[in-house]
Amino acid sequence: MIKIAVLVSGSGSNLQALIDAKLSGQIVGVLSNRPDAYALERAKQAGIKTALVEHKQYPSREAFDDVMHQQLLDWGVNLVVLAGFMRILSEKFVKAWEGKMLNIHPSLLPYYKGMHTHQRVINTGDVYHGCTVHYVTAELDAGQALAQGILSVKRTDTVETLANRVHELEHLVYPQVVEWICTGAVQHLEDGSVLYRNSLLTEPVQFCKL
Ligand code: GRF
Repeated sequence: MIKIAVLVSGSGSNLQALIDAKLSGQIVGVLSNRPDAYALERAKQAGIKTALVEHKQYPSREAFDDVMHQQLLDWGVNLVVLAGFMRILSEKFVKAWEGKMLNIHPSLLPYYKGMHTHQRVINTGDVYHGCTVHYVTAELDAGQALAQGILSVKRTDTVETLANRVHELEHLVYPQVVEWICTGAVQHLEDGSVLYRNSLLTEPVQFCKL
């Protein structure tokens, strides 16, 4: 069975969606870099082990990442799921978990890497927006995408309504992708690409809620 660790910094609504999805894999631990992350509370309520690794207590990014890495090894993790984890990871850490670490980003990558995606979508006047689940590589928000959730931006949308609607999509898409990995339906190939088993798919799966 796949053993999953979820890395969080905040509210953890994606963590909750993963817990509620009753995955074929097991969430063996939730690690936060912030003591006040509500996600820790959600994990405790679900009876999942938690670890707090406060980045401020370490002299360097590498030292912080080493402690996280050791915790993941102690839990026997083979899939790392970033769910609102607000730290940039060192190259060494990313390399160690290459092909075994996922992130969800609130935009239709490769558009709008980085922060404030909803505001940027509104500023540009885009018609479509959404979220992307991708493998994590050393370059920020640039790894191979596995799936995207797509919605159409309404004229009345604000940053807040868009954030809520994208979140709703995330809760649909992320557990589904993690489940594919748990069941082996999706595999990471050595060249960094994705294999969708028993299907003709070659492109990231698109979930549309227009
Ligand atoms: C999500 O919007 C996700 O796309 C981004 O961080 C946010 C996490 O939200 N990476 P939550 O903590 O899961 O509610």
